[in-house]
Amino acid sequence: MAQPADHAVVVENLTVRRGKRTVLERVGLTIPRGTITGLLGPSGCGKTTLMRSIVGTQIIEDGTVTVLGSPAGSKDLRAKVGYVTQAPSVYRDLTVSENVAYFAALYGRGKSAVTSAIESVGLGDHASSLTGELSGGQLSRVSLASALVAEPEVLVLDEPTVGLDPVLRSELWERFAHIAASGTTILVSSHVMEEAEHCSALLLMRNGAVIAQLSPDELLARTDETNLEHAFLTLIRTTEKLEKAS
Ligand SMILES: Nc1ncnc2c1ncn2[C@@H]1O[C@H](COP(=O)(O)OP(=O)(O)O)[C@@H](O)[C@H]1O
Ligand SMILES: [Mg+2]
Repeated sequence: MAQPADHAVVVENLTVRRGKRTVLERVGLTIPRGTITGLLGPSGCGKTTLMRSIVGTQIIEDGTVTVLGSPAGSKDLRAKVGYVTQAPSVYRDLTVSENVAYFAALYGRGKSAVTSAIESVGLGDHASSLTGELSGGQLSRVSLASALVAEPEVLVLDEPTVGLDPVLRSELWERFAHIAASGTTILVSSHVMEEAEHCSALLLMRNGAVIAQLSPDELLARTDETNLEHAFLTLIRTTEKLEKAS
């Protein structure tokens, strides 16, 4: 399918098996460029598997995943797609700037990219601190800086706010907004429905399927709720009723 210029990611008919289980079944979705899209759903529903399919590290059974006009995992996407996994992958025995410089070298970026990535996650004062001595929230920001240093067009973040206190969590969402405002497309997963309020588009998942793609306001309007968590639950109940009736 031709990819409209305003879509960073187009997924069609995606089916993925892990072991003997079908983890994603005929998933279809689009991710608009330059937005923050929230991938929301309970643990085990397939968020990480879908993200792995988009960054090209997941073997897929069927369907197509197109990123910036190329098949997911293509060589020309390597520097264009950044991925921050659920567990921060950092070298604890290196300083913050050594960590980020390592990834900069992989993507052929120079010293100024390192400095600006570290600044953009608010770790400027910790550039020469040993990574192993940082707090959990700071560790995840080192991981984020390591992805940002490549200056990716698409940034995939798997549950980046898990385990952070509310202040750090809201700080991180502010940073995401800032990064998206500069034109980067962000796909961010969470199992906390409240976080949907920071996103302009939502992909709601349940049991290996995307049950809705809409904005937070549309979700509230469609379910006649005022709270996003209640709205998601209402949507799930409606979906279940429809499934039983069919
Ligand atoms: N390596 C694996 N082998 C087999 N099944 C897996 C593997 N990783 C995850 N799964 C299963 O795939 C499903 C979706 O997992 P995942 O994509 O990690 O969900 P989420 O990120 O939403 O928690 C889960 O039921 C999980 O048990
Ligand atoms: Mg996951």
